[in-house]
Amino acid sequence: MSTTTSVTTDLAYQQCINPDCRTTFPVRQVAFACPSCGDLIDVVYNWDRLPVPKSLKHFESKWSKRLDPLCFSGVWRFHELLPFAPSEMVVTIGEGQTLLQPANKLAEFVGQNPGRLYLQYEGMNPSGSFKDNGMTAAFTHARMVGAKRVACASTGNTSAALSVYCSATSYGFQAIIFIGSGKIAYGKLAQALDHGALTLQIIGDFDDAMARVKQVADRLNIYLMNSVNPFRLEGQKTIMYRVLEALGWEVPDWIVVPGGNLGNSSAFGKAFLELKHLGLIDRIPRLAVINAAGARTLDELVGRHHLTWNDGLPDAQITSGYYGSMDASGAKADTIASAIEINRPVNLKKCLRALDACNGVVRHVSDQEIMDAKAQVGAGGMGCEPASAASVAGAKRLREEGVIGPDERVVCILTAHQLKDPTATVAYHSGDPQQFEKVLGSRGIHRAEYSNKPFVVANDMEDIVRALLQNFGDS
Ligand code: F0G
Repeated sequence: MSTTTSVTTDLAYQQCINPDCRTTFPVRQVAFACPSCGDLIDVVYNWDRLPVPKSLKHFESKWSKRLDPLCFSGVWRFHELLPFAPSEMVVTIGEGQTLLQPANKLAEFVGQNPGRLYLQYEGMNPSGSFKDNGMTAAFTHARMVGAKRVACASTGNTSAALSVYCSATSYGFQAIIFIGSGKIAYGKLAQALDHGALTLQIIGDFDDAMARVKQVADRLNIYLMNSVNPFRLEGQKTIMYRVLEALGWEVPDWIVVPGGNLGNSSAFGKAFLELKHLGLIDRIPRLAVINAAGARTLDELVGRHHLTWNDGLPDAQITSGYYGSMDASGAKADTIASAIEINRPVNLKKCLRALDACNGVVRHVSDQEIMDAKAQVGAGGMGCEPASAASVAGAKRLREEGVIGPDERVVCILTAHQLKDPTATVAYHSGDPQQFEKVLGSRGIHRAEYSNKPFVVANDMEDIVRALLQNFGDS
């Protein structure tokens, strides 16, 4: 292993986040945990020796060079802010062409004043979720180190993204994915199968699959693509750069994001800490991380057990005690938002750092709140899958509590596309009681206040016209 003194002179290197350890090693070393103490790893830069732009406006010059894949990509046009790879090693499929959408109709539902709510729609990525932002960076690193077999455990979107990056590039990558049994939404499973991933369905849930894939990757020397991979998070930082870009480089008041494995929230915190350090922004927005009620480890640990970053030394006893009691009671994550059905978030510590840096808050929302918010998202603009709508449900909750002010500028992250999980959407809207009960009722969802029910009508001209006239509404 390399020592601290030899690699800290590199422009970029890897470093353990534990202040009592701080082991450093080169970018080209493959490790998904600190080789000394097993803690999480950061990618760290010697910014003083790197060509950092003086202003974020610098990135606007990339727009005129869209024929260059590194300027076209919504990740790599910010290459100077994730400078761990030479340009010729970058693996890109045109990710990050995403949209910050003003959401005035939804603002009313959330309780924000007009013009104060935005949706950052990451469903426009090639694989339909925010994961592509991270995959492009991790695949770039995999290419730099000559990896060929790449694996992840997934609730669906990571595996879909990984599969697309293997099938759509020509560097000889093989996709290996671990999924829990019966836990993955069909849209996502369809992607992995269609793109030719070697798919292992573990008899267990995501937390089981995650624990296994780490062991297997270690034993068979497979490159791990979950968000414990610090290069994934480097790519996900750019979601925040694009939000700033769309706001004319103004910092919003709040970023609201669903929390599952806590990669996004961790990446966002790192992005803002670095931008502030570099003098590219003058303040950091507040961060709200929203769990589903049935998978609310972060909210329990932070809200109830007062776990904090504590300068890099969060009280490990709080976490182990919580996991111990979860194991003793046989508790398993359970939510309609299957993407965030996770009880042991691997990036917990980094998320605590982000919450500390961003004066953050954590909440959980019920499956009912998630599905209602999702219907409102769909009615007011781009659609999303249930997990994504947790951000909107969370913003509404924080607004009701008065934590978010009505005039504050709020950006909710819509993490993935509506078509990822059509089962949940159709069950909510269809009005079919059996379907409703099977998919939603069993999860404590009893109302579909915002449903848009299809009408059944005989194949008869008069009946059809009557049905339409009765249901046109006033608009
Ligand atoms: N939203 C969606 C649509 C997701 O797929 C995920 C995570 C999250 C939110 C949570 O993000 O982990 O950064 O806190 N999905 C992972 C997967 C776990 O396997 O696809 P996070």
